[in-house]
Amino acid sequence: MKLNSVVFKLGATILFLQLIILIPLGFIILQLILNYSYTQTESQLLNLSEKYATEVESLDGEDHSRLLDHLTDMTDTSAAILNADGDITTKTHWDDAISNQFLSEAEQDRLQNGETISKEQTYNGTTYLKVAQPIMQSDGSHASVVLFSSFGLISSSIHNIIILVLLASLGAVVLAIGFTIFISKKLGAPLIEMEKAAKQIAEKQDFSVRVNYQANDEIGSLANAVNHLSRTLERYKNNRNEFFSNITHELKTPLTYVKGYANAVRHEMYQSKEERDEFLDIIENETDHISYLMDDMMDLSKIEEGKIDLNKETFDVNHLLDEMVRRTQFKADEKGLALRFEQPAQPTMLYADKSRIEQIVINLVENAVRYTESGSITLQARATKEGTEILVTDTGIGIRKEDIPYLFERFYRVDKSRSRANGGTGLGLSIVKYLVDMHDGTIDVDSEINIGTKIRLFFPVLDKDKEK
Ligand SMILES: Nc1ncnc2c1ncn2[C@@H]1O[C@H](COP(=O)(O)OP(=O)(O)O)[C@@H](O)[C@H]1O
Ligand SMILES: [Mg+2]
Repeated sequence: MKLNSVVFKLGATILFLQLIILIPLGFIILQLILNYSYTQTESQLLNLSEKYATEVESLDGEDHSRLLDHLTDMTDTSAAILNADGDITTKTHWDDAISNQFLSEAEQDRLQNGETISKEQTYNGTTYLKVAQPIMQSDGSHASVVLFSSFGLISSSIHNIIILVLLASLGAVVLAIGFTIFISKKLGAPLIEMEKAAKQIAEKQDFSVRVNYQANDEIGSLANAVNHLSRTLERYKNNRNEFFSNITHELKTPLTYVKGYANAVRHEMYQSKEERDEFLDIIENETDHISYLMDDMMDLSKIEEGKIDLNKETFDVNHLLDEMVRRTQFKADEKGLALRFEQPAQPTMLYADKSRIEQIVINLVENAVRYTESGSITLQARATKEGTEILVTDTGIGIRKEDIPYLFERFYRVDKSRSRANGGTGLGLSIVKYLVDMHDGTIDVDSEINIGTKIRLFFPVLDKDKEK
């Protein structure tokens, strides 16, 4: 595990938090117990010495030392009796570590005045609690009893507590490490997998990698995002490859014609001047075809890159369709087709980019003319509260049901040679679909073989456009 990994940082934070809580807590508990033991010992010694001081009236006789013996025995304390002059007369259970000079002058004076003394004193590194009590004698003078109790009892409990705190800290550290390992498995593994996947995508351009992690959390959605990214890039790459091979193919055909006929003209492989003009016409048509192809491709790439903006305005579709019919009339006339617009009485208002709607309609009308041998092409328009509808109906060759879903794909043509012969590039409907989508519209194809095709455009009235 690296020192700068998220998991390590998390583990260190957990450990740090634990110690921050455990150390003061241990300290507080220690203080509490120390205080408690101290007051306990002090009151015990005070009790003892008071009891002794009240029971004993004279230091003569054996009784008092027996009582002292008895009391100190029970409580494990060292005791000494001093007479009124401050000389030690008796010692019981004496701890040799305690110096014989255990009372200062000032303390002796205080005892003579009848005061009780309670004080901590350290000998040889051991701390004792010293309690001295004056004994009022029958002659009025003050003897005294001095008790010493070591903190042995207390320090052993402190010892226990320290061990407990240390054990608890150790337990906490083990827990934290365990938790960190668990988290590193749970968190770190998918993150590392995603890092690898991202590197694979960026450095090796391998878009087939997927992260195998499913969870309903942030890491899960990150994994989904990585997968989504690689899927999109994969699709993009495949599309691009397909697009390039299509373009190469589409350009090759006209170029072959141009080269072949140019060659034929150069070597005068024609029978008559008419035939030569025919060859030159073919060359001209094929270069036109390349030119259309370039225009369509430029359009498509601009649209796909999101480089075109819509200049929306409200206009009457009737004028636009009327104009379209007039402009394409000659193409219909060439094939002897009737082309008409059934203009409604009311204006058909639409909020859209006029030039783009024009582009859409021209493409549809050109297709209708291209794929109709006899009969008519009819344009219709209708505006309702929901939106605006434009219909282009022809009596042409029709499209098979199974081909309809693919019509909007780039370079998809049901009949390649027919399309080519009529100047089609196979890109028209892809461009139309993009433009319709940009307007949040829909395009539907309804067709029957040898009966005809009806294309329905619908542009809904959008809430966001209403205030305009
Ligand atoms: N009105 C129609 N009638 C019959 N077939 C059509 C019609 N419009 C489009 N198609 C079919 O859809 C294909 C794709 O159309 P499009 O993208 O405009 O390419 P093209 O350059 O061939 O016109 C055409 O090649 C044709 O097979
Ligand atoms: Mg077309």
